Amino acid sequence: MVTFTIDGKTLQVPEGTTIMEAAKLADIHIPHLCYLKDINEIAACRVCCVEVEGERAMVTACNTPVKDGMVVHTNSPRARRTRRINVELILSQHDCLCATCVRSGNCQLQAVANDLGILELPYEQQIPRGLRVAWTKTFPLYHDYKKCIKCMRCIQICDKVQSLNIWDLSGTGSRTTIDVSHNRVIKDSDCSLCGQCITHCPVGGLRERDDTQKAFAALSDPDKITVVQVAPAVRAAWGEALGLTREEATMERLIATLRRLGFTYVFDTNFTADLTIMEEGTEFLRRLKAGHLQRWPMFTSCCPGWVRFLKSQYPELVNQLSTAKSPQQMFGSVTKSWFAQKLGVAPEKIFCVSIMPCVAKKAESELPTMRTQAGPDVDLVLTTRELVRMIRADHLIPALIPEEQPDDPMGIHTGAGVIFGRRDGGRSAHRSFRSHRRKPRSRCLCRRSYRPRPAGSHL
Ligand code: SF4
Ligand code: SF4
Ligand code: SF4
Ligand code: FES
Repeated sequence: MVTFTIDGKTLQVPEGTTIMEAAKLADIHIPHLCYLKDINEIAACRVCCVEVEGERAMVTACNTPVKDGMVVHTNSPRARRTRRINVELILSQHDCLCATCVRSGNCQLQAVANDLGILELPYEQQIPRGLRVAWTKTFPLYHDYKKCIKCMRCIQICDKVQSLNIWDLSGTGSRTTIDVSHNRVIKDSDCSLCGQCITHCPVGGLRERDDTQKAFAALSDPDKITVVQVAPAVRAAWGEALGLTREEATMERLIATLRRLGFTYVFDTNFTADLTIMEEGTEFLRRLKAGHLQRWPMFTSCCPGWVRFLKSQYPELVNQLSTAKSPQQMFGSVTKSWFAQKLGVAPEKIFCVSIMPCVAKKAESELPTMRTQAGPDVDLVLTTRELVRMIRADHLIPALIPEEQPDDPMGIHTGAGVIFGRRDGGRSAHRSFRSHRRKPRSRCLCRRSYRPRPAGSHL
């Protein structure tokens, strides 16, 4: 253990503890931008600098371990002045147009600059322009060079967590930037579209491609029947950004909110999660009996990010993948075939939207195998963040909207599909679904009653 003093408090902490972690134990907040525990501790932003008595230079709290007898001042006039200059220097290379930034209100740089009371930019602005900021508008992941603060979180998370090394530093000096590694363009890289780099970017340097305007256009088109499906994970996440309590952010309230947005039919992806379970189970038995699964089991995941990862990193296992479509794509297929027939309309008249938890679903819906002559099975995929932006744009206040039920029949499900949304969820769902069929429960995971389907029916 080491004993040290921070802002007048004397503490004992285990050897090796950084000043940042020790400060947290003493309820002292040290502003930071690049730091990500155990992932990015390279002191790139220098926003966390603190004053240590006896040290000539300021030290970075995120990667400096405390020492016995150390005396630290996190908010002395010198620490505040240095932090302010460091943030002003970051802002001098940053496109500070918060009014048009997707991260406004949820941005660490904005918060740090506001907290420091920075109202003017004293240094000359040097924002990258021209070809240096060119990025494809079609790929589901968007990198904004003008907003990137070069914190390198994306490089580290993709390397250490996803092991895909998609990002790298390029250029030198003030022209240093974050780009796709090995001089590739993003669509030719092995990016699995897991979205981890977007999640961990502290600013608007990375975001999903925004498709909300396409959704609004379809909703206002009188010739379109808009059908929306909601993925299991979305119902757990949508309320957070809208400030809803857990009790308010129900699936039923989300359904009612989607109707207020103008969707004609609101359905639940869990319906086709049930179909996926049946299709995959049937395929597994068929392949097992045919002797196709002697060396490996059959793999499956409704996560297209996982499938992209497997295809690029373990191509030798591709034949072990289930050929069944994911619940999202089965939903699109069923909507444009069976449901269109039931409505008595041409599939082209239906605009099928899905609300999904990740950007990989956008790429999945755009695969050439996921369309027919009538067009794509799923016309548009929106992430939870995009849904929240649409709700805000329409000035809806979900807390005041009474709950409603999904439309029939693709709003019903056994409840097994809900657990697709968690790790190992697919396998657990198969088990849960089988037990459901043996002995239907009165309450399923999503609080809707189980309704048995005709034996042998896949619909
Ligand atoms: S990244 Fe943050 S600081 Fe920069 S424009 Fe967006 S909201 Fe503002
Ligand atoms: S989406 Fe995932 S795989 Fe693609 S660059 Fe980001 S972290 Fe890497
Ligand atoms: S894109 Fe985001 S996470 Fe990556 S270096 Fe830039 S600011 Fe950091
Ligand atoms: S958080 Fe410590 S240097 Fe960036």
